[in-house]
Amino acid sequence: MSASKRISIAVDGPAGAGKSSISKVVAKKLGYLYIDTGAMYRAVTLAVLRAGANPADTDAVSHLLSNLTLRMEPTEEAFRVYVDDNDVTDAIRTQEVNANVSVVAAQKAVRQYLVAQQREMALAGGVILDGRDIGSVVLPNADLKIYLTASVETRAKRRWLEMKDNESVSLDDVKKSVADRDEMDKNREESPLVCVPDAVVIESDNLTFDETVDAMLKLATDVANKAEA
Ligand code: DC
Repeated sequence: MSASKRISIAVDGPAGAGKSSISKVVAKKLGYLYIDTGAMYRAVTLAVLRAGANPADTDAVSHLLSNLTLRMEPTEEAFRVYVDDNDVTDAIRTQEVNANVSVVAAQKAVRQYLVAQQREMALAGGVILDGRDIGSVVLPNADLKIYLTASVETRAKRRWLEMKDNESVSLDDVKKSVADRDEMDKNREESPLVCVPDAVVIESDNLTFDETVDAMLKLATDVANKAEA
């Protein structure tokens, strides 16, 4: 019996579609490496803030990149992120990083720096990368491209349910912030979020978490088996 190919999988989609949590589980079931590229943009943003630089100052950000060491280390759960050997896995999820990451992620120098690293990590196959530009820019030849999405209402509701016990925030506010991020991600000049024509679209509005995992697993297994046959 021949083994199936260890394929490369690109997962793109808007904020709050569940890309990371779903991709993480699918990667674990397949024994693949999972790379959350959003975490890399967040890590650069944190480094910029910690250096006291203005996140909108492209020269300062680009200078900082030349002295930065960023490392994604796979773990049993998913991965840990290191900047200059400091573990920043939790620190990249703060409100301050949330508020500044879009302006950093929109910069050409940042994208070139991170895309090069992402391609290198994907070289060996057996990987799932999730982000906004994976199928379009990072891995245009990925074996499988998935566009995971859901309506603004569904995505905002999921986010709100996760947040409401810790932060007093209204569903309407969360909905507005999700819609604003959609606008920014889709309309920026550098590598905007697009659904490429060769992507398989999964709309998760009427799917449970497990059903979405199963849908992605089935697609991956079919493509991996065909690639080997
Ligand atoms: O997926 P996330 O929310 O952790 O992403 C953080 C930010 O990084 C978000 O503003 C979109 C941006 N991003 C990007 O521009 N390209 C990617 N491949 C991944 C994330």
